[in-house]
Amino acid sequence: MADSSADARPHALFVAGPFQGHFVPAANLAIKLAAKGFIITFVTTEAFHHMRSDSGASSHDQRDIFSAARSKGLDIRYDVVSDGVPVPPDWRSNLEPVFYAHAHLLQAHVEELLRKLLLAAEPPVTLLIADTLFVWPSTLAKKYGLPYVSFWTQPALVFTLYYHMHLLIANGHFGAIPENRKDTITYVPGVQAIAPADLMSHFHKMNTSAVIHQLVVKSFEEVKGADFVLVNTVQELEDETILALQREKPFYAVGPIFPDGFTMEMVKANLWPEHDCSQWLDSMPPSSVLYVSFGSIYPISERDFSEIVRGVLDSKVNFLWVLRPGSVGTGSEDDPLPEGFREASRGRGMVVPWCSQKEVLLHPAVGGFLTHCGWNSILESMWCGVPLLCFPLIVDQPMNRTLVCQNLRIGLKLGDIGKVRRDHVSNAIRGLMGGEVGESVRREMEEVKKATRSALTPSGSSFKNLDQFIVDLLKHLA
Ligand code: UDX
Repeated sequence: MADSSADARPHALFVAGPFQGHFVPAANLAIKLAAKGFIITFVTTEAFHHMRSDSGASSHDQRDIFSAARSKGLDIRYDVVSDGVPVPPDWRSNLEPVFYAHAHLLQAHVEELLRKLLLAAEPPVTLLIADTLFVWPSTLAKKYGLPYVSFWTQPALVFTLYYHMHLLIANGHFGAIPENRKDTITYVPGVQAIAPADLMSHFHKMNTSAVIHQLVVKSFEEVKGADFVLVNTVQELEDETILALQREKPFYAVGPIFPDGFTMEMVKANLWPEHDCSQWLDSMPPSSVLYVSFGSIYPISERDFSEIVRGVLDSKVNFLWVLRPGSVGTGSEDDPLPEGFREASRGRGMVVPWCSQKEVLLHPAVGGFLTHCGWNSILESMWCGVPLLCFPLIVDQPMNRTLVCQNLRIGLKLGDIGKVRRDHVSNAIRGLMGGEVGESVRREMEEVKKATRSALTPSGSSFKNLDQFIVDLLKHLA
């Protein structure tokens, strides 16, 4: 029988976003909270759960992804609810039904589970934690008298631009912006001047009836009802923006949310089997390899891929390229690499379908990262001190590039979608890996690496912010 002191622990129903880049930090946050004495019922969608099981990513039972954490004494339970999306989901050609399902069906299924956990769980659920991009958590939490903790997996800069979308709309910085309009955005609290072209990609094509627009608007209406917001970022790197947001809401920067020990995952985090690159990297000189990866979701166009491949070959730099099957163009599984590629890259290039990115970034042979600017990739690169070459594809990635290249100066721009050119790519690579510009970027990255690592030490900002969140939450629950 559970003793009465155990029953006093907060019990969170934690609904993770069903994308690799959202799920992994959520799972790691769940473990951190459990290590601080929370009971967690961690929930993902059936479609995402099956994607993970079918990928063969893990040898242990996928129904029980937290078994390693539990064997260390943490109280994390795992559940799966249906969102009505066909299994496996087709993220690329079929986004609208996926968004629709998340907006409507998932809410009903989470509510059913929540009711069960309120009645029958030991102890009953006392709070709801959910990915900010869901469109129902605040409504649901209020209906059952629970606090809602919103979990944001991208930079505070991106959060605040969504949060202040009404200002962008009022100033005409939303939807298609006329090419001759050159003014910058200077009116969002805590945000330095930014170019409208760098806003999140879907803002440019947005019309207010688009499903994605309605979902973003609704999820940020929900976040206004949140009692607390936890963000996977570092206070020192986005100080001004975070201070401005703290005037609106209890807002805590608790990132980077990595497992203790960086590469030592307690949950098997990867969707695909990892190719071991360590032997090849061991054979390469220090800081000589450019690591190339465009993340886990969106494809790169054939045109841009071809220009980048040529640029990488022309640069003569060593490279390790992650090329997921189906990640170029319309998703055909055919080999997208041009004829002659393998001969041209023999002795200096390696292509793999997936790898342990954290281990690669930690390897001393790696001197640069050509990235799509997914936020997890950026945080991992900061932790390892690897400077970035930025080629954002979609959603938050263009804005993340602004943070990297303009605010923190730890990366260089590679060009824009549809316009990137091979000569620019090869020059940028040579500049980053050997030139003077690269030297200055590396110096800045060293500072950012120190700030990122120190944030997680017991006297660091993220460590203290997480503790403060717990103190504030317990007061709220009392
Ligand atoms: C998605 C969105 O695309 C991004 O804009 C948002 O910021 C987060 O969610 P994703 O494409 O998954 O991101 O990229 P990213 O956030 O960088 O995450 C990719 C993860 O996959 C990283 O944790 C990285 O370590 C891992 N990875 C990638 C591997 O482990 N191996 C690989 O070979 C490539």
